[in-house]
Amino acid sequence: MGCDSNPEIARAAALLRAGGVVAFPTETVYGLGANALDERAVARVFEIKGRPRFDPLIVHLSGVEGVSRLAAEFPPTAQKLAEEFWPGPLTLVLPKTPAVPDLVTAGLATVALRVPDHPMAQELLRAARVPIAAPSANPFGRVSPTTADHVREQLGGQVELVLDGGPCRVGVESTVLAVTAAGVSVMRFGGTTLEDIEAVVGKVAMKPEHNPAAPSAGLASPGTLPQHYAPRTPLIVREFEATGNFAGVGTPARRVGLLAFRSPRDVAQFDRVEVLSPAGDLREAAANVFAAMHRLDAAGLDLIVAELLPEQGLGRAINDRLRRAAHA
Ligand code: TXA
Ligand code: MG
Repeated sequence: MGCDSNPEIARAAALLRAGGVVAFPTETVYGLGANALDERAVARVFEIKGRPRFDPLIVHLSGVEGVSRLAAEFPPTAQKLAEEFWPGPLTLVLPKTPAVPDLVTAGLATVALRVPDHPMAQELLRAARVPIAAPSANPFGRVSPTTADHVREQLGGQVELVLDGGPCRVGVESTVLAVTAAGVSVMRFGGTTLEDIEAVVGKVAMKPEHNPAAPSAGLASPGTLPQHYAPRTPLIVREFEATGNFAGVGTPARRVGLLAFRSPRDVAQFDRVEVLSPAGDLREAAANVFAAMHRLDAAGLDLIVAELLPEQGLGRAINDRLRRAAHA
């Protein structure tokens, strides 16, 4: 692809070094990036996104060699996970060094780090030569962007540059893991599956934070709020294949859309249907879920009914997003 000579990436890198804010693709979702070591630039990310300052950002690195500057400890288990899953959709929460501004970590003693697996993100990180703090490039609480158009529609005009790297391959955010002497715990389900993680480090703990039904999560991973990833259209979830019968959901006066996992049985009462994966493949479903939510949200519906997926593999991450989207 000759990324090295991409003038847009060089421009984006120069903007970042000068304190600018740039949207860029990763394999999970698009990020809204600033130089992680520049507090004023990071402050603009919070402003543009409308994000509360208690919600810390993930810092992106071009490779594992960047960890030592930002993390005070890199336990063997974390190193093993990094070796196995970086570059890729895994974020490791580690004790921070003073080099990381408090604004990035929302005052926490830890920093969230990840090495993205997207050629444009990699090229940008190498050209900028600074770590990039980046949340997903959507307004706070809204549906995450998996194309450059999603970013332009939601935040265009507010960012200096949107790098277009095509649709995101994974489609859901990274899995966030806290690694301490006490062990590994999941703070957010995402693009690296629990099964794959446990194959490397054995059983891991679940933080109540990942569970929207848990009482007052908030503290350890402040960003995992019950309501998140929400379209403007009201959304409800239904158990996967619990019943083909959504009786009463649609009426002539109400336009209802269906977000289905695979080819649904009974669609007559729906005004619009999005199928995440006709063959029932969880990877394909993850890659499609946010784009399908964006389309349904733009269709002028009164209600979206989302079918939950099997609670395994990437299904956990997708269901987490659907449940939070429904929590409006
Ligand atoms: O795939 C991704 O992770 C994308 C791409 C752009 O890399 N980024 C992303 O960022 O999803 P964001 O800001 O939307 O979500 C970051 C999550 C939040 O739930 C936040 O609370 C958590 O990571 N987080 C960040 N720093 C943390 C820390 N020090 N301790 C615990 N949780 C942290
Ligand atoms: Mg987000």
